[in-house]
Amino acid sequence: MSLKPSIINIFGATGDLAKRKLIPALFSLYKKKIINEKFPVLAISRRDYSKEDYLEFLDFDEKAGSYKPEWDEFKKQIHYLKFDFKNPDTESLKNKITELNSYCNCAGNLISYLAISPGFFEVILPIIKDINIGGYQRVVFEKPFGFDLKSAKQLNEKTSMFEENQIYRIDHYLGKELVRNILTMRFANPVFGNIWNADYVDHVQITVSETVGVGSRGGYYDNSGALKDMLQNHLLQILALTAMDPPDSNDEKSLRDEKTKVLNAIREIKQEDIVLGQYGEGSIGDSKVPGYKNEGSVSDNSETETYVALKLFIDNERWKNIPFYIRTGKRLGVKSAEVNLVLKKPETNLFKDNIENHSPNCITIRIQPDEGINVSFLAKIPGPEYEFTEANLNFCHPCLFAINSWEAYELLIQEVLDGDQTLFARWDFIEKSWKIVDNLIEKTQRIPKTFPNYRAGSQGPKPANFLIKKDNRSWLSFLHY
Ligand SMILES: NC(=O)c1ccc[n+]([C@@H]2O[C@H](COP(=O)([O-])OP(=O)(O)OC[C@H]3O[C@@H](n4cnc5c(N)ncnc54)[C@H](OP(=O)(O)O)[C@@H]3O)[C@@H](O)[C@H]2O)c1
Repeated sequence: MSLKPSIINIFGATGDLAKRKLIPALFSLYKKKIINEKFPVLAISRRDYSKEDYLEFLDFDEKAGSYKPEWDEFKKQIHYLKFDFKNPDTESLKNKITELNSYCNCAGNLISYLAISPGFFEVILPIIKDINIGGYQRVVFEKPFGFDLKSAKQLNEKTSMFEENQIYRIDHYLGKELVRNILTMRFANPVFGNIWNADYVDHVQITVSETVGVGSRGGYYDNSGALKDMLQNHLLQILALTAMDPPDSNDEKSLRDEKTKVLNAIREIKQEDIVLGQYGEGSIGDSKVPGYKNEGSVSDNSETETYVALKLFIDNERWKNIPFYIRTGKRLGVKSAEVNLVLKKPETNLFKDNIENHSPNCITIRIQPDEGINVSFLAKIPGPEYEFTEANLNFCHPCLFAINSWEAYELLIQEVLDGDQTLFARWDFIEKSWKIVDNLIEKTQRIPKTFPNYRAGSQGPKPANFLIKKDNRSWLSFLHY
């Protein structure tokens, strides 16, 4: 793969995201020889650091392990610029970028990764826009893009000085291999693709469960909650990929058009089909953990939801009257992200009685951990009778590909460098997703919040079970195969 050389600016280079994800992802791309010295990294932040101080802050010498020689080479192309967004010295930024451009032969190509609070966008965006040194300009925005429809629209207006094709809105779930595999499964394999519809699927379950609490993000999370923090982005993206119709072609526009159509086809969700929860104290493994209200920077009488489960329908031909059950929560018993398509039982008289007492076939896409795909089915038990047992066809992704695995951020940065927007959220998707979430939030105002209503380390609040049980179905237990 040959990418055009570019300067990679990281605004907020001393932040958690830059240190934990972005610099390691860039180093991985360097190790894979996808980028080289023609891709200088300009780390930009307010601390009064020299380049050496910044490298020390990154603390990567040991973490590089056996790749220390490569790290020693790569770190030569990392530069640091002290730059205060509250008092920006625009000239020094321009000069530094111009200087880097003169030796990297980057033809003025600039990528600006905004790993900063959205509150600074208003200051930073015109400055970036103004640094026009002849090449392409691409700007990467982190999630969340807004905190409701109104603020997302305002943010979108602020970014309007850039064309949509210059804007890359990150949802790192779209960079996860098993999320990307959903399209391969569906559209490259008739064994799955042909049954991916209301004729064969009884219902779909999408689960993203986390064992972590809010940690040091209590202040942010208490103003956000599971609907905004997880559903608006990751879960609706997974839903769209799972439910979309085949795009006309494999270009980024067709694919993104189809995803937005899914959101547009979601039937208004009823209040009785939404369950909220908040964790109380409990245990994760052997460790006792506090309840949400006792986490740092969380208000004592917080009504913020750390869990949401809901049922929705997609009003189109493919999914006519097929329910999608979606749930996500923090401090649940198991860390897991899965899509499950539970199939209808066959309409046959041949094995009617034998099938009756068994679970239906299920196609599971496990996004994390232990990435893979599983198909459960009924197999005959040896012997003279037709007695069945449940068996599994299991595809273990890391077993086959571990050595070549790509981290989500690595892949997404590569796509930005390649100028391919397929894996990034387009504005119309974001806009519709906020409309859905704003509408849900309005409905949930009317739901009494007797929180906490689930124990840390459990499977979530009891009403979430009633949500699905009233349809004579049940949640698949986490990591069920
Ligand atoms: N962390 C994640 O895993 C993650 C995941 C998804 C999305 N995000 C989003 O990504 C963005 C960054 O997150 P983060 O966790 O990295 O935040 P963070 O740890 O708070 O880092 C923010 C960065 O901005 C810098 N900064 C703050 N005020 C500044 C100023 N006046 N002038 C110059 N630099 C300034 C900080 O410098 P100091 O170091 O000196 O404070 C730091 O480098 C946020 O919008 C967040 O929502 C983060």
